[in-house]
Amino acid sequence: MTKPRLYSGMQPSADSLQAGNYIGALLQWRDLQDSYDAFFSVVDLHALTQPNDPAALREKTRRTAAQYIAAGIEPSRSTLYVQSHVRAHAELAWILSTITGFGEAGRMTQFKDKSQRYGSDATSVGLFTYPVLMAADILLYQTEVVPVGDDQKQHVELTRDLAERFNSRYGQTFTVPKPVIQKDTARIYDLQNPTSKMSKSSESDAGVLWLLDEPSKTAKKIMRAVTDAEGSVRFDREEKPGVSNLLTIYSALTGRSIEQLESEYAGRGYGDFKKGLAEVVVEEFGPVRERVLALLDDPAELDRILAANAAKADEVADATLSDVYDKVGL
Ligand code: ADP
Ligand code: NA
Repeated sequence: MTKPRLYSGMQPSADSLQAGNYIGALLQWRDLQDSYDAFFSVVDLHALTQPNDPAALREKTRRTAAQYIAAGIEPSRSTLYVQSHVRAHAELAWILSTITGFGEAGRMTQFKDKSQRYGSDATSVGLFTYPVLMAADILLYQTEVVPVGDDQKQHVELTRDLAERFNSRYGQTFTVPKPVIQKDTARIYDLQNPTSKMSKSSESDAGVLWLLDEPSKTAKKIMRAVTDAEGSVRFDREEKPGVSNLLTIYSALTGRSIEQLESEYAGRGYGDFKKGLAEVVVEEFGPVRERVLALLDDPAELDRILAANAAKADEVADATLSDVYDKVGL
């Protein structure tokens, strides 16, 4: 029996991924590989919507791919490739942009937020059409399921609308995908500012647990994480966001429930709790980091893996794109 198709991706927007990317995306992707025919992309075309040094972008793309593999995405089982290696993404995006309403694209809240922050001169047309490129990413592979964070839900809704619109105008062409929104319990916050999301694009290093940090640095950041004056290890997102965030990370990486952890640390101080968590994170990230370094040490082998996987992706994407060209009269 063929497995349902799944697509997801991440931008190569930093040299290292952070704990939220690992817990909220990579760990889930790793497990989804069993039940889905999964396509995982490093979306470097999307990354061009931010200013980038060319050599640095190329390096971030390779490092992001290496981190996917090191975290357990198996390139022999899933299709793990770099978006720009498959030309059909940009081509389908153009065609989809011709059936996307200007107002429809303008309603995307991520665009509204980002363009407001950048100002109109620093806001590119590419940032505006970003969700259309994302729709092309998904629709090229006849994707059924798209695991995303809730900030991307609106973009998947647009993707569904475009698929349905194209199908009704030109005849059945695209599978209409369904978003699978990650559980709120998988959301990780900044260690120094535990009400804002941990992010690759965070300005301050102290609050971010980088997957590729040296183990001693990881431990230090956890020992210095913001907590509160109460002194008891208890989950309460409103009153104790710092401790709750640390509990979330602890639970996600060990499979122990929050309740279990609360009773394990009952009557013990935050020092003990943080030491326990630091051990867990270092044990998890350490071997991933070693594997990343080994992969980056053999660039020819990494290139070979990425080229073979791009060829697999290309085959599926080309079939869809040819059908689309045919339907629209190209
Ligand atoms: P970032 O903010 O680090 O640039 P992206 O927006 O590129 O992250 O998201 C890549 C993936 O990682 C998405 O699936 C997203 O849901 C997940 N992700 C990012 N940050 C977090 C977080 N703090 N907690 C949980 N998941 C996250
Ligand atoms: Na981002």
